[in-house]
Amino acid sequence: MYNLLKRSPQPIKRPLGCLSQNVLLTSSARLSLRYFSTPKPSRPPAPPPKNSFKTKYKQIKLGWKQLNEHPSFRTWASFGMILLYVATAYAGIQYLNDTKYKATGDPNPYKKKEDLEKERLEKTQIGEIKDVNTSKQTENSDAHKKCNHDKDGLNVPAPRDTTDIFDGLAREYDNKIWFEELSSHIWYRRRQLMKQIKGDALEVSCGTGRNIPYFDKENITSITFLDSSKTMLEIAREKFTKKYPEYEKVQYVRGKAEDLAQMASHSGQKFDTIFETFGLCSHEDPQAALENFKALLRPNGRIVLLEHGRSSYDSLNQTMDKKAEQRVEEWGCRWNLDIDAIVQDSGLEILESKKYHFGSTYYYILKRNDDE
Ligand SMILES: C[S@@+](CC[C@H](N)C(=O)[O-])C[C@H]1O[C@@H](n2cnc3c(N)ncnc32)[C@H](O)[C@@H]1O
Repeated sequence: MYNLLKRSPQPIKRPLGCLSQNVLLTSSARLSLRYFSTPKPSRPPAPPPKNSFKTKYKQIKLGWKQLNEHPSFRTWASFGMILLYVATAYAGIQYLNDTKYKATGDPNPYKKKEDLEKERLEKTQIGEIKDVNTSKQTENSDAHKKCNHDKDGLNVPAPRDTTDIFDGLAREYDNKIWFEELSSHIWYRRRQLMKQIKGDALEVSCGTGRNIPYFDKENITSITFLDSSKTMLEIAREKFTKKYPEYEKVQYVRGKAEDLAQMASHSGQKFDTIFETFGLCSHEDPQAALENFKALLRPNGRIVLLEHGRSSYDSLNQTMDKKAEQRVEEWGCRWNLDIDAIVQDSGLEILESKKYHFGSTYYYILKRNDDE
C-alpha cells in the first residue's frame, strides 16, 4: 500500500510553455522560504535576576518551607523550644530568688560558696565606705570667708571646710578639669608620682580617683583611699572597682586629713607610702595634715606630694592673690598657699623636690627625719 502510494503517478506532460512558469514558481517559493526561514536577530539574553531583598526573601521563604516539610525538623524544633522555655524559667526563678535574698539580707542557699565569699568581700572591702568624720564641722561663717593676711603679708584666703564645695562639684569634676590636666601634662606628673607608691599605701584627698589609671598593683600591697567628700569618694570607688574588680585589699574612708592620726589610733594601722595630689590647698589645716602623715608612716616610709601653690614669679602670684577668694568659692582650693613653707615647717626631711608650671606645681618625696 505504502509502495503504491509512493510510486509516483505517470509524469504529467506539460507543454514547453509551462516550463518558464514552473521555474518562476519554484524560485519564488525558494525565495519566500529563504525569507521566512532566515533567523530573526535574537534578543539579548535576559540578565540574571538581581540578588535583591525580594529574591533573597523568596529564597529564604522557600528554604524555610522545604525545611518545614522535612520530617525530623519539627521534632527537633519542638525539642529546642522546650529547652529554651525551661532555661528561661530557670533563669527567672534564679533572678527572683536572688532579689529576694538581696532584699531580706539572708544568705542565698542556692549560691555557690565561692560566689557568696566574693559577694561578702565586695560588700565589706570594696563596697563599704567607712565614715570616720571625727572633727567638728567648721562653720562657714563670714569670718572664715574673709581673707587672711598671714605673717608674710600674703593675701591667702582664710581656712575653711571645703567638703560641701567638693560634694557639689564631684559629679562634674572630671569633665571640668580633664582638658586642663591633659594640656598641662599633669597626667604625666601623676604617672611619675604613682611609680613611687609601694607597700601599704594611703591616698589622702583621693578625690574622684584621678591617680587610679596609674595604680601599680604589682608594687602596692594595699590601698586606702581617704577623702572628706562622700561623693568624690564614691566616684573613686566606682572607678577602682571597675578597673580592679579582683583587688581585695582596698578600703575607702570618709574623713579629714586633719583627723587621720586620731582615726587610725583605733586600728593602729600604719603605711609604707602616704601620698596626696592637689589636696593640701583644700585643707583647713594643711600643717596638721602633714603632722598626721608623719605619725602614720612606718619606719623608712615615704610621703609623696604633688601640690600647687604660690609660684616663683611675682606677677603670677599677684594674679593668683587677686582671684584667690573667687577660687576658693568655686573650686574649694587656696591656690596661693606657700607650699614650700608648709613642708619646711612640718619637720619632714626632703629627699626630692621639683617644681613645674612657673614654680606653681610642687613635687616632693619626704621622709621622717628620725629615719636612717
Ligand atoms: C582639688 S581636689 C583633688 C582631688 C585629687 N587628689 C586629684 O588629684 O584630683 C581636693 C580633694 O580634697 C578633698 N578634701 C578637702 N579637704 C579635705 C580634708 N580636710 N581632708 C581630706 N580630704 C579633703 C576634697 O573633697 C577633694 O576631693
